[in-house]
Amino acid sequence: MWANTGSSQKSLDNLDTSYLTLECDILIVGAGGAGMRAAIEAFDKGSKVILVCKSLLGKAHTVMAEGGIAASLGNVDPEDNWQVHFSDTVVEGQSINNWRMAELFAKEAPERVLELERYGALFDRTDVGKIMQRPFGAHTYRRLCFVGDRTGLEMIRTLQDQVLKRDIPYLAETDISNIFLSPSGVVAGALGIRIGTGELILFKCKAVVLATGGCGKVYSVTSNSWESTGDGIAIAYRAGAELMDMEMIQFHPTGMIYPAGVRGLLITEAVRGEGGILTNVNGERFMEKYDSKRLELSARDVVARSIYSEIAAGRGTPNGAVYLDIRQRGPDYIKKKLPSMYYQFLEFANIDITKQKMEVAPTVHYQMGGVRVDPETCETSVKGLYAAGEVACGLHGANRLGGNSLSDILVFGKRAGYAASDYVRGCGDVELSQEDIQKEIARILAPFRITSGENPFELKERIAQTMWKYVGIVKNEEDLRKGLDQILLIKLDSKNVQAKGTRAFNQSWVDSLSVWNMVLDCEAIIRSALERKESRGAHYRSDFPQKDDANWLVNIVIRQKDGQMNLDRIPVPKMPPEYEKLINRDEILLWKKSAK
Ligand code: FUM
Repeated sequence: MWANTGSSQKSLDNLDTSYLTLECDILIVGAGGAGMRAAIEAFDKGSKVILVCKSLLGKAHTVMAEGGIAASLGNVDPEDNWQVHFSDTVVEGQSINNWRMAELFAKEAPERVLELERYGALFDRTDVGKIMQRPFGAHTYRRLCFVGDRTGLEMIRTLQDQVLKRDIPYLAETDISNIFLSPSGVVAGALGIRIGTGELILFKCKAVVLATGGCGKVYSVTSNSWESTGDGIAIAYRAGAELMDMEMIQFHPTGMIYPAGVRGLLITEAVRGEGGILTNVNGERFMEKYDSKRLELSARDVVARSIYSEIAAGRGTPNGAVYLDIRQRGPDYIKKKLPSMYYQFLEFANIDITKQKMEVAPTVHYQMGGVRVDPETCETSVKGLYAAGEVACGLHGANRLGGNSLSDILVFGKRAGYAASDYVRGCGDVELSQEDIQKEIARILAPFRITSGENPFELKERIAQTMWKYVGIVKNEEDLRKGLDQILLIKLDSKNVQAKGTRAFNQSWVDSLSVWNMVLDCEAIIRSALERKESRGAHYRSDFPQKDDANWLVNIVIRQKDGQMNLDRIPVPKMPPEYEKLINRDEILLWKKSAK
């Protein structure tokens, strides 16, 4: 790589403040599907790219989109086309999606899937050798291209091959703390730590693509793993970018319940796509009463709230779950189509799903809100800063359809890489302020200066418990206010967070930085949830149970003003009439109306 070492320096209190410098055109932060696809695109366009990720290369939340990638190839249902996919996406996003993003997405998803196949992905096939497609919740047609129940994993494996084949420089276990802007306000660099050695690295670059995923780890029950602490959202916000629709948190209907160590682990929607049936403790197929038409394949928000309601009404299992049953498919079929589920239950819970029912309950899975971006280029409101995938906002509106995230990250990962590459080509030298660098170094080394401070692991736990208790599937003003009070207290405590020990492989240091990001994300989530006084998609308020199109067809945008979060309601961009005509809303059966 293009490296030179900064001279060794010590601060007055003897902390090493020296840093290594790496130069590139574009720094890509996050190496899940969006980050890798952006890196491939920018590299192929001739940009000098460095790809960094907080964890190991290939370990990303992308792998948790197990059941498939949504694209209207029409291989199984020839009636499918981009227009229906567009309509499904907007209808289930409850009309607060950015229509242009939804259009580009639905149009480009099929080509991105075919490209992934050309890159080497091995999809399941139809009898005539086409890519197989299965049904998924609230998709009108069988639209999910899949590799058993390991689709996200296959995508990561394939993209990783392409990154390695091109020899794109990458740094794993590298945690980016903040980006720097030039005096004229454009991206000029970023600072990170190498987790394994504790060294600091200054990246001099002209553009940054954030592809850091979401913030699922702010909840105690989640399908996300330790990396998902919403770092990109916090980094973008601190740099002056706008956040949008942060109240929209997706609870996946089916997570594991036990053993405790795997609580929240995903049970793919493909189980229901392949015919899995949900029942309560009385043996009732309860989805009949919440969505009699689509049953288990209703939209995610509807199924998750239905399960929640059954459990809350005392019709759950003694473990606080409902049953999911796929036994009727028979052992051979289950092992072929759902191999990961089979082994996951066998190994973790000693349950053979070919013979026994699964116990399931909702788990936090995805964040529809995030950094506000331009639909064509993925550029944020900060020049030179791009965001793609879960960290970005606009495509999914109030509720994401299963399988739409994998096509999202390919479509907009490519677009972000392309646009960033275009931008840096026309960009002159950018100035980086030494003062900013020193300030950021002082900020991230602060946890080592605290001698008797807060334990970051405990702060993370407090955040996760608070969010689960007060900012759950069903929200109300009183709980949200309690949640906000708690989060603001944790924010105060986090100023005094302490990292013990040396810098190499110091999880308490990495967690200290994460805690600062997590409290920022939580504050944005709760303030937005308080602001939206209605129920829409994943955002359900028991004190405002109706959807209110007259007042709330808006996106909630957050900007920094005088060190505070400033919330603004902006009307959803108006769709041209010819696109309005494509929207088919007649299939929606609202949970609210049918729940007993
Ligand atoms: O259930 C699943 O396989 C998850 C898919 C997704 O989130 O897109």
